[in-house]
Amino acid sequence: MGIDIKNVKEAEAMRVVGLMAAETLLAVGNALRPGMTTDEINTLVHEDTIRRGARPAPLNYRGFPKSVCTSINDVVCHGIPGAEVIQNGDIINVDVTSIYQGFYGDTSATFYIGTPSPEARHVTEVARRALELGIAEVREGAFLGDIGAAIQQFVESKGCSVVRDFVGHGIGRRFHEEPQVKHYGKRGSGERLRAGMTFTIEPMVNLGSYAVTIDPTDKWTVRTVDGSLSAQFEHTLLVTKKGHEVLTSRPAALNNSETAAALYLMA
Ligand code: MF3
Ligand code: CO
Ligand code: CO
Repeated sequence: MGIDIKNVKEAEAMRVVGLMAAETLLAVGNALRPGMTTDEINTLVHEDTIRRGARPAPLNYRGFPKSVCTSINDVVCHGIPGAEVIQNGDIINVDVTSIYQGFYGDTSATFYIGTPSPEARHVTEVARRALELGIAEVREGAFLGDIGAAIQQFVESKGCSVVRDFVGHGIGRRFHEEPQVKHYGKRGSGERLRAGMTFTIEPMVNLGSYAVTIDPTDKWTVRTVDGSLSAQFEHTLLVTKKGHEVLTSRPAALNNSETAAALYLMA
């Protein structure tokens, strides 16, 4: 089948849904408070998505029971919202995927709840920068492997590890399509990027080993095997001749972290 190339109209539809998902994620960032349950985050995402005339893609996706993924501390991804209360010092990834007029937009961020430990801040800021460095590789003619290589090199230089078992993905009229976007690998390997491709980059970064395990009871929650913290950021991108567009870029900074971020990594 190969990798789908979006035409001008399809790319515009991807911009529209990308902005919707970005705005919903921004609303989450503005609402998070210690003492909230992850079910309350789910309700916020569900209602905000519907209010925009969109649908939450996770709900009933391969049996997923909720409208958003909420992944706390050692949970790497696919955490299921429920009665769990978010506490001061936690880090939580919230992963929003919206469907509008048949197109998907997928974006996530890791948020600080109250004051993070130095370790929590480190893994989160490494993940944030890893996504930026991956995005910077995206232009027509570059290789898919250039993205993974840039991310892996940086993450490992900061003493963290890149999860292997989950990858970024093509996206469009389906949630997950070709290609797989690995967050590790070799420069110059894999498919060449072409203008009109749309895919996510979503590195999961662990403070310890990259080994992960899926909860045998709920069959969804992914945790680090060693119990170490894990952080993730995700954007949906469009490849252009000159470079890329970040289709899920946010119209405002995430209030609880993005200003401190750049300073931290420079130190
Ligand atoms: N949003 C996730 C991704 O980035 C996928 C979640 S699948 C779900 O690919 F079923 F858990 F929602
Ligand atoms: Co994704
Ligand atoms: Co996602």
